[in-house]
Amino acid sequence: MLRERTVQRLYRLLDSTRLKVLALTAAEFVGLRRFLVRLDTNNFCNLNCRFCPEVARRRESDYSPRVLRYIDFRRIAAQLFPQARILYLSCSGEPLLTPGFPRYLSLAADYGVPFISFVTNGTRIDEELIRVCIERGVNQITVSLDGAMAETVEHLRPGLDFTSLLDRLRLLAEQKRRRGSDRPELRLNYVVMRDNLDQAPAFIDLAAELGADSVQFRPLTPYPGNPFTTAQHLGAAEQRRAGGIMKSAAQRAGRKGIKLLEHSEFVGRDRGSTGALIERCAYPWYYRYVNPTGGLGICPRRGVIGNLLTDDYSTLMAAPRMRRIQRDVLRGGGECAAHCAR
Ligand SMILES: C[S@@+](CC[C@H](N)C(=O)[O-])C[C@H]1O[C@@H](n2cnc3c(N)ncnc32)[C@H](O)[C@@H]1O
Ligand code: SF4
Repeated sequence: MLRERTVQRLYRLLDSTRLKVLALTAAEFVGLRRFLVRLDTNNFCNLNCRFCPEVARRRESDYSPRVLRYIDFRRIAAQLFPQARILYLSCSGEPLLTPGFPRYLSLAADYGVPFISFVTNGTRIDEELIRVCIERGVNQITVSLDGAMAETVEHLRPGLDFTSLLDRLRLLAEQKRRRGSDRPELRLNYVVMRDNLDQAPAFIDLAAELGADSVQFRPLTPYPGNPFTTAQHLGAAEQRRAGGIMKSAAQRAGRKGIKLLEHSEFVGRDRGSTGALIERCAYPWYYRYVNPTGGLGICPRRGVIGNLLTDDYSTLMAAPRMRRIQRDVLRGGGECAAHCAR
Protein backbone atom coordinates (compact mmCIF):
# COMPACT_ATOMS: atom_id res chain seq x y z
CA MET A 1 0.00 0.00 0.00
CA LEU A 2 1.21 3.52 -0.82
CA ARG A 3 2.49 5.33 2.24
CA GLU A 4 0.42 8.31 3.43
CA ARG A 5 3.15 10.86 2.66
CA THR A 6 3.65 9.47 -0.84
CA VAL A 7 -0.08 9.87 -1.55
CA GLN A 8 0.08 13.45 -0.24
CA ARG A 9 3.10 14.26 -2.42
CA LEU A 10 1.46 12.82 -5.53
CA TYR A 11 -1.69 14.79 -4.78
CA ARG A 12 0.24 18.05 -4.34
CA LEU A 13 1.76 17.59 -7.79
CA LEU A 14 -1.70 18.09 -9.24
CA ASP A 15 -1.75 21.83 -9.73
CA SER A 16 -5.33 22.52 -10.71
CA THR A 17 -8.75 22.07 -9.17
CA ARG A 18 -10.00 20.03 -12.12
CA LEU A 19 -7.12 17.52 -11.96
CA LYS A 20 -7.51 17.19 -8.20
CA VAL A 21 -11.26 16.70 -8.44
CA LEU A 22 -10.71 14.10 -11.15
CA ALA A 23 -8.22 12.22 -8.95
CA LEU A 24 -10.53 12.42 -5.92
CA THR A 25 -13.55 11.26 -7.92
CA ALA A 26 -11.50 8.35 -9.29
CA ALA A 27 -10.41 7.52 -5.73
CA GLU A 28 -14.05 7.51 -4.62
CA PHE A 29 -15.02 5.36 -7.59
CA VAL A 30 -12.48 2.65 -6.75
CA GLY A 31 -13.30 2.83 -3.04
CA LEU A 32 -10.07 4.50 -1.81
CA ARG A 33 -10.18 6.52 1.40
CA ARG A 34 -9.94 10.19 0.49
CA PHE A 35 -11.12 12.39 3.37
CA LEU A 36 -9.09 14.57 5.65
CA VAL A 37 -11.38 14.80 8.68
CA ARG A 38 -10.98 17.34 11.48
CA LEU A 39 -13.33 16.76 14.34
CA ASP A 40 -13.71 18.74 17.56
CA THR A 41 -15.21 16.76 20.43
CA ASN A 42 -15.58 19.91 22.54
CA ASN A 43 -15.31 23.71 22.33
CA PHE A 44 -13.63 24.56 25.62
CA CYS A 45 -10.19 24.70 27.16
CA ASN A 46 -8.40 24.87 30.51
CA LEU A 47 -5.88 27.53 29.40
CA ASN A 48 -6.21 31.16 28.35
CA CYS A 49 -3.38 31.56 25.85
CA ARG A 50 -2.82 35.23 25.11
CA PHE A 51 -2.72 34.72 21.34
CA CYS A 52 -5.55 32.23 20.90
CA PRO A 53 -8.72 33.30 19.07
CA GLU A 54 -10.70 30.65 20.97
CA VAL A 55 -10.25 32.55 24.25
CA ALA A 56 -12.18 35.53 22.83
CA ARG A 57 -14.78 33.22 21.28
CA ARG A 58 -15.46 31.71 24.70
CA ARG A 59 -16.35 35.20 25.97
CA GLU A 60 -18.99 35.86 23.28
CA SER A 61 -22.59 36.06 24.48
CA ASP A 62 -23.80 33.18 22.30
CA TYR A 63 -21.05 30.81 23.50
CA SER A 64 -21.98 27.76 25.51
CA PRO A 65 -19.69 24.84 26.30
CA ARG A 66 -20.44 21.72 24.25
CA VAL A 67 -19.23 18.15 24.21
CA LEU A 68 -19.84 15.68 21.41
CA ARG A 69 -21.22 12.72 23.36
CA TYR A 70 -19.64 9.36 22.63
CA ILE A 71 -22.96 7.99 21.35
CA ASP A 72 -23.16 10.87 18.83
CA PHE A 73 -19.51 10.50 17.95
CA ARG A 74 -20.25 6.88 17.04
CA ARG A 75 -23.01 7.96 14.65
CA ILE A 76 -20.73 10.46 12.95
CA ALA A 77 -17.82 8.03 12.84
CA ALA A 78 -20.00 5.48 11.03
CA GLN A 79 -20.72 8.06 8.32
CA LEU A 80 -17.24 9.50 7.81
CA PHE A 81 -14.50 7.23 9.10
CA PRO A 82 -14.80 4.42 6.53
CA GLN A 83 -13.69 7.03 3.95
CA ALA A 84 -11.20 8.89 6.17
CA ARG A 85 -7.53 8.80 5.19
CA ILE A 86 -6.35 11.30 7.80
CA LEU A 87 -8.16 12.07 11.03
CA TYR A 88 -7.32 14.97 13.33
CA LEU A 89 -9.39 14.46 16.44
CA SER A 90 -9.17 18.12 17.48
CA CYS A 91 -8.92 21.50 15.90
CA SER A 92 -9.96 24.38 18.14
CA GLY A 93 -10.95 22.96 21.55
CA GLU A 94 -8.82 21.02 24.03
CA PRO A 95 -9.52 17.34 23.22
CA LEU A 96 -8.18 15.90 26.46
CA LEU A 97 -10.97 17.66 28.38
CA THR A 98 -13.58 15.49 26.64
CA PRO A 99 -14.62 12.85 29.18
CA GLY A 100 -13.39 9.41 28.08
CA PHE A 101 -11.38 10.81 25.14
CA PRO A 102 -9.27 7.60 24.81
CA ARG A 103 -12.49 5.75 23.86
CA TYR A 104 -12.98 8.14 20.96
CA LEU A 105 -9.46 7.41 19.73
CA SER A 106 -10.05 3.72 20.10
CA LEU A 107 -13.20 3.84 18.01
CA ALA A 108 -11.34 5.70 15.25
CA ALA A 109 -8.72 2.94 15.31
CA ASP A 110 -11.51 0.34 14.96
CA TYR A 111 -12.32 1.92 11.59
CA GLY A 112 -8.73 1.40 10.46
CA VAL A 113 -8.18 5.08 9.66
CA PRO A 114 -4.57 5.07 8.34
CA PHE A 115 -3.44 8.25 10.08
CA ILE A 116 -4.89 9.35 13.43
CA SER A 117 -3.62 12.42 15.26
CA PHE A 118 -4.77 15.14 17.62
CA VAL A 119 -3.40 18.47 18.82
CA THR A 120 -3.41 19.26 22.51
CA ASN A 121 -1.94 21.61 25.07
CA GLY A 122 -0.68 18.44 26.76
CA THR A 123 -1.79 19.36 30.27
CA ARG A 124 -3.97 16.23 30.63
CA ILE A 125 -1.71 13.63 29.05
CA ASP A 126 -1.74 10.66 31.44
CA GLU A 127 -0.91 6.94 31.58
CA GLU A 128 -4.35 5.83 30.37
CA LEU A 129 -4.20 8.06 27.29
CA ILE A 130 -0.66 6.95 26.50
CA ARG A 131 -1.58 3.27 26.91
CA VAL A 132 -4.53 3.56 24.48
CA CYS A 133 -2.45 5.52 21.97
CA ILE A 134 0.28 2.89 22.02
CA GLU A 135 -2.04 -0.14 21.99
CA ARG A 136 -4.33 1.25 19.26
CA GLY A 137 -1.47 2.55 17.09
CA VAL A 138 -2.43 6.24 17.17
CA ASN A 139 0.05 7.76 14.77
CA GLN A 140 0.79 11.14 16.27
CA ILE A 141 0.23 13.45 19.20
CA THR A 142 0.91 17.11 18.51
CA VAL A 143 1.62 19.13 21.62
CA SER A 144 1.61 22.90 21.49
CA LEU A 145 4.62 24.33 23.27
CA ASP A 146 5.97 27.75 22.41
CA GLY A 147 9.29 28.26 24.12
CA ALA A 148 12.25 26.65 25.82
CA MET A 149 11.91 28.57 29.09
CA ALA A 150 9.24 28.16 31.76
CA GLU A 151 8.88 31.91 32.25
CA THR A 152 8.12 32.56 28.57
CA VAL A 153 5.75 29.65 28.07
CA GLU A 154 3.81 30.27 31.27
CA HIS A 155 3.44 33.94 30.33
CA LEU A 156 2.11 33.08 26.85
CA ARG A 157 -0.19 30.33 28.10
CA PRO A 158 -1.71 31.43 31.41
CA GLY A 159 -2.80 28.39 33.40
CA LEU A 160 0.04 26.17 32.13
CA ASP A 161 2.56 24.55 34.47
CA PHE A 162 5.69 24.12 32.32
CA THR A 163 7.39 21.59 34.61
CA SER A 164 4.28 19.42 34.83
CA LEU A 165 3.90 19.47 31.04
CA LEU A 166 7.52 18.37 30.53
CA ASP A 167 6.98 15.55 33.06
CA ARG A 168 3.97 14.34 31.04
CA LEU A 169 5.98 14.39 27.82
CA ARG A 170 8.79 12.48 29.52
CA LEU A 171 6.21 9.91 30.67
CA LEU A 172 5.10 9.50 27.06
CA ALA A 173 8.69 8.95 25.91
CA GLU A 174 9.36 6.55 28.77
CA GLN A 175 6.21 4.44 28.13
CA LYS A 176 6.98 4.21 24.41
CA ARG A 177 10.53 3.11 25.19
CA ARG A 178 9.36 0.57 27.76
CA ARG A 179 6.82 -0.94 25.35
CA GLY A 180 9.18 -0.76 22.35
CA SER A 181 6.76 1.42 20.39
CA ASP A 182 7.66 4.30 18.09
CA ARG A 183 3.99 5.35 18.07
CA PRO A 184 2.50 7.76 18.77
CA GLU A 185 5.06 10.10 17.26
CA LEU A 186 5.45 13.30 19.23
CA ARG A 187 5.22 16.50 17.22
CA LEU A 188 5.72 19.87 18.88
CA ASN A 189 4.00 22.96 17.49
CA TYR A 190 5.63 26.27 18.32
CA VAL A 191 3.82 29.52 17.49
CA VAL A 192 6.58 32.03 16.73
CA MET A 193 6.27 35.62 17.91
CA ARG A 194 8.46 38.44 19.24
CA ASP A 195 8.62 37.06 22.79
CA ASN A 196 9.88 33.59 21.83
CA LEU A 197 11.63 33.94 18.45
CA ASP A 198 15.13 33.81 19.96
CA GLN A 199 14.42 30.58 21.84
CA ALA A 200 13.80 28.56 18.67
CA PRO A 201 17.30 26.94 18.48
CA ALA A 202 17.31 26.13 22.22
CA PHE A 203 13.84 24.63 21.77
CA ILE A 204 15.33 22.01 19.44
CA ASP A 205 17.55 20.82 22.31
CA LEU A 206 14.52 20.59 24.57
CA ALA A 207 12.53 18.75 21.87
CA ALA A 208 15.37 16.22 21.50
CA GLU A 209 15.55 15.73 25.24
CA LEU A 210 11.78 15.08 25.30
CA GLY A 211 12.03 12.48 22.53
CA ALA A 212 10.09 14.54 19.96
CA ASP A 213 10.10 13.28 16.37
CA SER A 214 9.26 16.59 14.72
CA VAL A 215 8.87 20.29 15.37
CA GLN A 216 6.86 22.85 13.49
CA PHE A 217 7.57 26.54 13.92
CA ARG A 218 4.46 28.36 12.77
CA PRO A 219 4.03 32.11 12.49
CA LEU A 220 1.58 33.78 14.85
CA THR A 221 -1.65 34.76 13.14
CA PRO A 222 -2.66 38.22 14.38
CA TYR A 223 -6.34 38.79 15.11
CA PRO A 224 -8.16 42.11 15.02
CA GLY A 225 -9.41 42.88 18.51
CA ASN A 226 -6.46 41.07 20.12
CA PRO A 227 -3.73 43.73 20.62
CA PHE A 228 -1.35 41.10 22.02
CA THR A 229 -1.28 39.33 18.66
CA THR A 230 -0.74 42.51 16.67
CA ALA A 231 2.10 43.58 18.99
CA GLN A 232 3.73 40.14 18.88
CA HIS A 233 3.43 39.60 15.11
CA LEU A 234 6.85 39.73 13.42
CA GLY A 235 7.35 42.75 11.20
CA ALA A 236 9.30 42.75 7.91
CA ALA A 237 12.70 43.37 9.58
CA GLU A 238 12.13 40.58 12.10
CA GLN A 239 11.02 38.23 9.35
CA ARG A 240 14.54 38.46 7.93
CA ARG A 241 16.08 37.86 11.36
CA ALA A 242 13.62 34.98 11.84
CA GLY A 243 14.96 33.40 8.64
CA GLY A 244 18.49 33.31 10.18
CA ILE A 245 17.26 31.94 13.50
CA MET A 246 15.22 29.26 11.76
CA LYS A 247 18.27 28.29 9.73
CA SER A 248 20.24 27.77 12.91
CA ALA A 249 17.33 25.80 14.43
CA ALA A 250 17.18 23.67 11.27
CA GLN A 251 20.91 22.87 11.47
CA ARG A 252 20.54 21.88 15.10
CA ALA A 253 17.46 19.76 14.27
CA GLY A 254 19.47 18.00 11.56
CA ARG A 255 22.22 17.14 14.04
CA LYS A 256 19.72 15.90 16.65
CA GLY A 257 17.65 13.81 14.21
CA ILE A 258 14.52 15.92 14.60
CA LYS A 259 12.39 16.54 11.57
CA LEU A 260 11.69 20.23 11.12
CA LEU A 261 8.37 20.71 9.39
CA GLU A 262 8.93 23.63 7.10
CA HIS A 263 6.75 26.67 7.17
CA SER A 264 6.97 28.65 3.97
CA GLU A 265 6.76 32.07 5.68
CA PHE A 266 10.15 31.54 7.32
CA VAL A 267 11.99 30.58 4.16
CA GLY A 268 11.00 33.50 1.96
CA ARG A 269 8.10 31.84 0.17
CA ASP A 270 5.20 33.67 1.74
CA ARG A 271 2.21 33.09 -0.48
CA GLY A 272 1.05 36.58 0.45
CA SER A 273 -2.59 35.80 1.10
CA THR A 274 -4.28 33.91 3.87
CA GLY A 275 -6.91 32.76 1.38
CA ALA A 276 -6.50 29.51 -0.50
CA LEU A 277 -6.07 29.79 -4.25
CA ILE A 278 -9.36 28.87 -5.88
CA GLU A 279 -7.48 27.48 -8.89
CA ARG A 280 -5.95 24.78 -6.71
CA CYS A 281 -8.78 24.24 -4.28
CA ALA A 282 -10.48 20.88 -3.96
CA TYR A 283 -11.58 21.14 -0.32
CA PRO A 284 -15.27 20.29 -0.87
CA TRP A 285 -14.21 16.95 -2.38
CA TYR A 286 -11.91 15.81 0.43
CA TYR A 287 -12.10 18.05 3.53
CA ARG A 288 -14.64 17.38 6.28
CA TYR A 289 -14.84 19.30 9.55
CA VAL A 290 -17.23 18.35 12.34
CA ASN A 291 -17.93 20.57 15.34
CA PRO A 292 -19.05 19.35 18.80
CA THR A 293 -22.74 19.78 17.94
CA GLY A 294 -22.43 17.70 14.76
CA GLY A 295 -22.18 20.66 12.34
CA LEU A 296 -20.45 19.66 9.10
CA GLY A 297 -18.05 21.93 7.22
CA ILE A 298 -16.48 21.14 3.84
CA CYS A 299 -13.88 23.91 3.75
CA PRO A 300 -11.79 25.57 6.51
CA ARG A 301 -12.96 29.04 5.47
CA ARG A 302 -16.71 28.61 5.32
CA GLY A 303 -19.37 27.84 7.91
CA VAL A 304 -21.19 24.57 8.37
CA ILE A 305 -23.42 23.30 5.58
CA GLY A 306 -25.61 21.01 7.70
CA ASN A 307 -25.69 18.76 10.73
CA LEU A 308 -24.69 15.12 10.87
CA LEU A 309 -26.83 14.44 13.94
CA THR A 310 -30.03 15.63 12.30
CA ASP A 311 -29.36 14.89 8.62
CA ASP A 312 -27.94 11.94 6.80
CA TYR A 313 -24.47 12.53 5.33
CA SER A 314 -25.48 11.40 1.83
CA THR A 315 -28.48 13.77 1.91
CA LEU A 316 -26.20 16.69 2.78
CA MET A 317 -23.80 15.78 -0.01
CA ALA A 318 -26.61 15.65 -2.57
CA ALA A 319 -28.21 18.92 -1.38
CA PRO A 320 -28.32 21.93 -3.76
CA ARG A 321 -26.05 23.95 -1.40
CA MET A 322 -23.24 21.40 -1.71
CA ARG A 323 -23.63 21.26 -5.48
CA ARG A 324 -23.52 25.06 -5.64
CA ILE A 325 -20.31 25.23 -3.61
CA GLN A 326 -18.63 22.64 -5.84
CA ARG A 327 -19.77 24.57 -8.92
CA ASP A 328 -18.37 27.82 -7.42
CA VAL A 329 -14.99 26.17 -6.88
CA LEU A 330 -14.82 24.71 -10.38
CA ARG A 331 -15.74 28.08 -11.90
CA GLY A 332 -13.53 30.06 -9.51
CA GLY A 333 -16.33 32.42 -8.50
CA GLY A 334 -19.58 32.67 -6.57
CA GLU A 335 -19.38 32.65 -2.79
CA CYS A 336 -15.87 31.18 -2.96
CA ALA A 337 -14.49 34.34 -4.54
CA ALA A 338 -15.48 36.20 -1.36
CA HIS A 339 -13.42 33.84 0.80
CA CYS A 340 -10.38 32.96 -1.26
CA ALA A 341 -7.83 34.61 -3.53
CA ARG A 342 -7.50 34.06 -7.26
C1 LIG B 1 -6.51 26.47 19.04
S1 LIG B 1 -5.38 25.24 19.55
C2 LIG B 1 -6.45 23.89 20.01
C3 LIG B 1 -5.72 22.67 20.46
C4 LIG B 1 -5.09 22.72 21.84
N1 LIG B 1 -5.86 23.39 22.82
C5 LIG B 1 -3.69 23.29 21.76
O1 LIG B 1 -3.41 24.34 22.30
O2 LIG B 1 -2.87 22.64 21.11
C6 LIG B 1 -4.71 24.64 18.00
C7 LIG B 1 -3.37 25.23 17.65
O3 LIG B 1 -3.54 26.59 17.29
C8 LIG B 1 -2.40 27.30 17.74
N2 LIG B 1 -2.74 28.72 17.81
C9 LIG B 1 -3.56 29.34 18.69
N3 LIG B 1 -3.61 30.66 18.44
C10 LIG B 1 -2.81 30.89 17.36
C11 LIG B 1 -2.44 32.06 16.63
N4 LIG B 1 -2.91 33.27 16.95
N5 LIG B 1 -1.61 31.91 15.59
C12 LIG B 1 -1.12 30.70 15.23
N6 LIG B 1 -1.44 29.55 15.89
C13 LIG B 1 -2.26 29.65 16.95
C14 LIG B 1 -2.12 26.65 19.08
O4 LIG B 1 -0.82 26.91 19.53
C15 LIG B 1 -2.34 25.20 18.75
O5 LIG B 1 -1.16 24.59 18.27
S1 SF4 C 1 -4.55 25.65 25.01
FE1 SF4 C 1 -5.11 25.70 22.84
S2 SF4 C 1 -7.31 26.14 22.71
FE2 SF4 C 1 -6.61 26.51 24.83
S3 SF4 C 1 -6.33 28.69 24.87
FE3 SF4 C 1 -4.36 27.73 24.42
S4 SF4 C 1 -4.16 27.59 22.17
FE4 SF4 C 1 -6.30 28.08 22.69
